[in-house]
Amino acid sequence: MDTKKILVIMGSPRKGNTYRACEELRGMLEKELPVAFEYLWLKDADLAPCKGCLSCFTRGEETCPNHDDAPAIEKKMHEADAVVFATPVYGMNVTGQMKIFIDRFCYTFHRPRFFGKKAFLLTTTGALGHGDVLKYLDMVARIWGFGIAGKTGIVTPVPTPRHLIGKNKMAIARAAAEFAASLRRTGPESPGLYDVIVFHGQRGAFSQLEKVSPADYRYWKEKGWLERGTKYFTNVPVNPVYHAIGTVVEWIAAWQVKKDLLVDPGEIS
Ligand SMILES: Cc1cc2nc3c(=O)[nH]c(=O)nc-3n(C[C@H](O)[C@H](O)[C@H](O)COP(=O)(O)O)c2cc1C
Repeated sequence: MDTKKILVIMGSPRKGNTYRACEELRGMLEKELPVAFEYLWLKDADLAPCKGCLSCFTRGEETCPNHDDAPAIEKKMHEADAVVFATPVYGMNVTGQMKIFIDRFCYTFHRPRFFGKKAFLLTTTGALGHGDVLKYLDMVARIWGFGIAGKTGIVTPVPTPRHLIGKNKMAIARAAAEFAASLRRTGPESPGLYDVIVFHGQRGAFSQLEKVSPADYRYWKEKGWLERGTKYFTNVPVNPVYHAIGTVVEWIAAWQVKKDLLVDPGEIS
C-alpha cells in the first residue's frame, strides 16, 4: 500500500497535550499502515485574521487583501490524503489560531473542494467543551468536502489522573483503528442525508446568486452542480429518499433567496 500523507493542522500554540495526542495517533496508525505525518503549526504560519471584506465569497479567494500563507496551506491540504484538524478547547471553542484558519478558508463553505479526502478531528480539553468542538469541526470539514474518517476528544486536566490516562489511550486507539480502516478504503462513499441536504440547500441558493455572488455562481456552474439531474457534488449513488428530501430543501432555499432578492434586496456593502 502507498504511504498515506497526513497533514496535521495544529491549532495549539505549544507542544503540549494536543501534540502528544497527535503523536500517539501517529504511533498507532504506523502499526496499521504506512503513513507520513507533517505538522502545520498555525502559530508559526503567516496567516492574518480575516478583514471581513467578503471579497473571497463574491469575487474569488484570489482577491483576498491578505497576501500570506493561505494559498500554500490550501495547496498542502490538496496534496495530503488526509487532514487532522487538531486543537485544544479554549473558552469552550477552538483556539484563536484555529478559528483564524477556518475564517480564512470560509469561501470553502460556499465552494467546497476537498472531496475524496479524509478528515480526522482531534481535540484536548481540561474538562469540558470537547463534544461541542468536535461537532463544530465535523460541520466545517464535512461542508468543505472532506469525509470524516474518525474523531476523538481527550480530557487532560492538570494533573491527569491515572484512570483518565488509560481512558484517553483507549479512545485514541479506537479512533486510530477507525481512521486506519477509512484510509485503507478507496473508492467513492455515498453521502449521508446531511450531506445531500447541504448540496441541495446550497444549490437552491447559489443558483439565484449570479449577480450578488458571481464567484460562487461561476464555481457551481463550472463544476456542473447547477445542471438538472446532478444529485451531488461527486458522481456517487445517492439514496433516493435523501434525494427527494434534498429536492424539497433546494426548492425552499431557491424560493427564499429569490424572494429576499426581489422583495428586499437592500444594499451590497
Ligand atoms: C486560554 C485557555 C482556555 C481554555 N479553555 C478551556 C475550556 O473552555 N474548557 C476546558 O475544559 N479547558 C480549557 N482549557 C484547558 C485546555 O483545553 C487543555 O489544557 C488542553 O489540553 C491544552 O492543550 P495543549 O496542551 O495542546 O495546549 C483552556 C486552556 C487555555 C490555555
